[in-house]
Amino acid sequence: MRVLGIETSCDETAVAIVTDKKEILAHAIYTQLETHQQYGGVVPEVSSRGHLEILPHMVSQALTEANLSLADLDGIAATCGPGLIGGVLVGATFAKAIALYHQKPFMAVNHLEGHALTVQLTHDVPFPYLLLLVSGGHTQILLVKDLGDYALIGTTKDDALGEAFDKTARLMGLPYPGGPKIEAYAHKSQTDHYAFPRPMIHKPGYDFSFSGLKTAVRFAIEKEPTPLSKKTKANIAYSFQEAAIAVIKNRLKNVFQRYHNHFNTFVVAGGVAANQAIRQSLEEIATQYQKQFVAPPLHLCTDNGAMIAWAGLSYLKRGKTSSLDFKPRPRWPLDTLEP
Ligand code: KG4
Ligand code: ZN
Repeated sequence: MRVLGIETSCDETAVAIVTDKKEILAHAIYTQLETHQQYGGVVPEVSSRGHLEILPHMVSQALTEANLSLADLDGIAATCGPGLIGGVLVGATFAKAIALYHQKPFMAVNHLEGHALTVQLTHDVPFPYLLLLVSGGHTQILLVKDLGDYALIGTTKDDALGEAFDKTARLMGLPYPGGPKIEAYAHKSQTDHYAFPRPMIHKPGYDFSFSGLKTAVRFAIEKEPTPLSKKTKANIAYSFQEAAIAVIKNRLKNVFQRYHNHFNTFVVAGGVAANQAIRQSLEEIATQYQKQFVAPPLHLCTDNGAMIAWAGLSYLKRGKTSSLDFKPRPRWPLDTLEP
């Protein structure tokens, strides 16, 4: 089985062709980063026009790379939410048109489920597993019981973790997306100079909050001479990352204590999962609780087409396809999916 996956929910146009033997026959990502950097964030209208211009070329290129034609595909999958609705509409409509013309099954993929299932493309991880999903828009701890069957355990009360990285970077004068830049600066410091507050850790439960941390960073920056020196930037980045890691560890400790009977494998997914310091601390927690820790390779953590193709293929294998009437959704929480 070969499925084409299309991802257009944010600022990346991504296309991939994946097989049921877990081969990635084509994989292309075009990022509009430079276009959006001048605005300090993604501008939805600019982003959807960008997807529209480049997507048809990317699909033809992917087919050429895989040495296939549209007729050779067994299904077409596209992100149908959650995300910036203009972009989602471009990808979803394009995929539906191909499916309709070539009489192929269409799979409306939930972007978050794409992240959640990526690990099964690269590793043999059976259901159920515990998932920490950390992206630009989401920070959630979920029990992945089966395809389309998610139990939400914890979520953020305010900013998502990736958003906190991006906002901290912006306060430091670093361009969007801030996550990789904060990680690189943090690498140059080894002292928790600022000892930022660790929101929520004195409260029981599994939820997160990161907006207080961001405010603490802002106050610290206001006290420093401008422009910030490289050393100050490194120290702020390091202290921010340390505080974020302490919060994640604390929340996960509560989850592991309460839910350890429900899973054997702990998985991380989403763009922030590309952060090495975070990956390492997650591995430590898993080891502490005698659970297996699995993280997809870095290039499959951030948004990509393979995760969408794979999620679509997982449904197709079970004979589950979507109607061409499926309406793309700006909001589409994982725990509202149906098995
Ligand atoms: O999953 P993703 O590619 O897009 C969304 O669905 O949101 O995640 C993007 C987020 C951004 O906030 C970005 O700053 C963050 O992931 N990110 C990182 C790293 N690489 C990407 N955060 C921390 N460290 C990184 N190395
Ligand atoms: Zn994503």
